[in-house]
Amino acid sequence: MEEITNSQTVRDYIVNMQKFHPDKAIEKLRPLAKKIGRLLGKMHAGKVIHGDLTTSNMLLRGDPENLDIVMIDFGLSFSEGLPEDKGVDLYVFERALLSTHPNTEELFTEVMESYRQENGEEAQEVIGKLDEVRMRGRKRTMVG
Ligand SMILES: Nc1ncnc2c1ncn2[C@@H]1O[C@H](COP(=O)(O)OP(=O)(O)O)[C@@H](O)[C@H]1O
Ligand SMILES: [Mg+2]
Repeated sequence: MEEITNSQTVRDYIVNMQKFHPDKAIEKLRPLAKKIGRLLGKMHAGKVIHGDLTTSNMLLRGDPENLDIVMIDFGLSFSEGLPEDKGVDLYVFERALLSTHPNTEELFTEVMESYRQENGEEAQEVIGKLDEVRMRGRKRTMVG
C-alpha cells in the first residue's frame, strides 16, 4: 500500500476539534461525518466490507476546507453483499467512534443520514441489521 503523505487520522482530527473548539466541535465535524457516511455507503454499495472501521483507520488529506478521506488497514476486509455484514461493519464503527470520542452520538447519526442517501434502496435493510446487531450487543452486556 502507498504511504499517504501529509495526512492525519480522523481520530486526531476529532480529538483536536473537541479540544480546541469544545462548544462548536459537533458543528465543525458535521461535514466530515457526512463525507464518511457517503464513503461507507459507496464502499458497501460496491460490496466492500472494511472489517475494522475505526477513526485511526481513516486518514484525511488535502486542504482543510475540502478534506479527502482515505481508508487504510484493509487487513480484515472482504467482499460481500449481505446486509448483515454491512450492518456489523457499521456497528463496529459506531462502537469505535463512541468509545474513542465522547459525545459523538450526533455525528454517527449524521454518518448514517448520508449513508442512507448514498446507498439508496439497500440502506433500509442494512440499518435494520444494524439495529439487530446493537440489540445482540446489549444482551451480551446484560448477561455479562
Ligand atoms: N498508508 C498509510 N499512509 C500513512 N499513514 C499510515 C498508513 N498506514 C498506516 N498509517 C499510520 O499508522 C497508523 C496505524 O496503521 P494501521 O495500518 O491502522 O495499523 P494497526 O491498526 O494494526 O495499528 C495509522 O493510524 C496511521 O496513522
Ligand atoms: Mg488501524
